[in-house]
Amino acid sequence: MRKKIIAGNWKMNKTPSEALALIETLKPLVAGADADVVFCVPAIDIVPAVQAVAGTDIAIGAENMYFEDKGAFTGEISAPMLVDAGVKYVIIGHSERREYFAETDATVNKKVLKAFEYGLTPIICCGETLTQREQGVTIDFVRQQIKIAFQGVTAEQAKTAVIAYEPIWAIGTGVVATTEQAEEVCAAVRACIGELYGADTAEAIRIQYGGSVSGASAPELFAQPDIDGGLVGGASLKEDFGKIVHYDR
Ligand code: PGA
Repeated sequence: MRKKIIAGNWKMNKTPSEALALIETLKPLVAGADADVVFCVPAIDIVPAVQAVAGTDIAIGAENMYFEDKGAFTGEISAPMLVDAGVKYVIIGHSERREYFAETDATVNKKVLKAFEYGLTPIICCGETLTQREQGVTIDFVRQQIKIAFQGVTAEQAKTAVIAYEPIWAIGTGVVATTEQAEEVCAAVRACIGELYGADTAEAIRIQYGGSVSGASAPELFAQPDIDGGLVGGASLKEDFGKIVHYDR
């Protein structure tokens, strides 16, 4: 039985002092969850956030990282920096990074490999545009993203990875994929991992749905056999995140 994982993706929201206030608000609301709970916060909020969640079950994640260990890469943050700061998870290849910051499947793969090298759990994002969905190529497209992201990743590593299926048309739009749409693609992603690594790995890997998840939509989504939780943007900044985390109550 896979443990659910529910991660907030704060995106470019909350100054360090605002982050502390939000964490204090959310702490009691997410306490006692059956799922793993992660707050993925802006880089500048990481250090105070790690201190603020000490003694709770909340883990802190980063929203991005670079694929080199160190050096002349002005503005970038490395995997060893994240590890030293107490980060456990890192979102890799979010569609906003692909769209606005020129991330490609190839750089996603390099980052995934680097995350594993340093013991960080990558939350690897995939998902189609509305045009791709209308063209009927969603599953082909997502399978390609997954196959490239996992190049060179071992089965043992893949078992510990998290994949976030996020249809781009559902992100920040208030339009949630239907439960059937979300389950169909998450099941296809699991099947793809099965083809690459075998049934054990497919059974172990955790696959989230993301895209306008709310306290209202979470229970039905997370009840699907291949949906192991969510990657939550807008609602992760609100008290509703507590409802999402306790979707099973
Ligand atoms: P949303 O964002 O929940 O605001 O749609 C999800 C995400 O981008 O991870």
